[in-house]
Amino acid sequence: MQRIPEPEELMDQADQAQAYAQADFSEANQLFIGLLESQAGGPLNGHLLDLGCGPAEIPLALARRHPELHIDAVDGARAMLDLAQRKIDADESDARRRIRLICEYLPCNTLPGQNYQLIGSNSLLHHLADPQAMWQTVAGARPGTGVVIMDLARPASELAVDAMVETYAIDEPDVLRNDFRNSLFAAYRVAEVEDQLQRAGLHTLNAGMVSDRHLAVIGHI
Ligand SMILES: C[S@@+](CC[C@H](N)C(=O)[O-])C[C@H]1O[C@@H](n2cnc3c(N)ncnc32)[C@H](O)[C@@H]1O
Repeated sequence: MQRIPEPEELMDQADQAQAYAQADFSEANQLFIGLLESQAGGPLNGHLLDLGCGPAEIPLALARRHPELHIDAVDGARAMLDLAQRKIDADESDARRRIRLICEYLPCNTLPGQNYQLIGSNSLLHHLADPQAMWQTVAGARPGTGVVIMDLARPASELAVDAMVETYAIDEPDVLRNDFRNSLFAAYRVAEVEDQLQRAGLHTLNAGMVSDRHLAVIGHI
């Protein structure tokens, strides 16, 4: 099945950002957090860069679980960052003091070269008009930086897309079911991502499936 790009890269409409922020992505978020923790091989500390942080559910969950962790959370959409700021302000733990929100559009050359233990991203790759925006950004990281980039993987057929929407979004409002459907059509496959990594010269990173609908790129720079 041919890839169909997302209609928009950034989620910068207030109603779209709000619908996304209200949805329950806890299962995928847990999967991603587990991959980051395995990659670190112990508690997360130091600094982590989250690319395409959206409403900051993942940075908040990470900061609550890891009291020594500082997170730079980047998104290009002001509407998403406004929601993220509200969630962070409402948090009663000290997590909010360890999360810095940054409005930046990928590719981004300056940030990755700072002293990050890990660079992570969930559900951003399929949004990008040019996936090299992700890999150029990751390639700017210092040697030794851990990398975990997770996203949906494109199913084999439209029938398989419909089945996935029925399985995982049956109770969601139409706007979210539609977003999920568009995301599955826009997602890449493992072989396509392997090709992107080769072209970016990221030979130490490996792509593979990590669930029935998610792929991840994992390794060290
Ligand atoms: C589907 S959301 C994922 C949010 C979050 N990572 C999560 O898993 O809940 C993708 C986010 O990437 C942002 N985004 C898309 N293209 C971008 C770009 N080129 N630069 C920066 N952010 C981008 C969107 O604005 C959106 O907030």
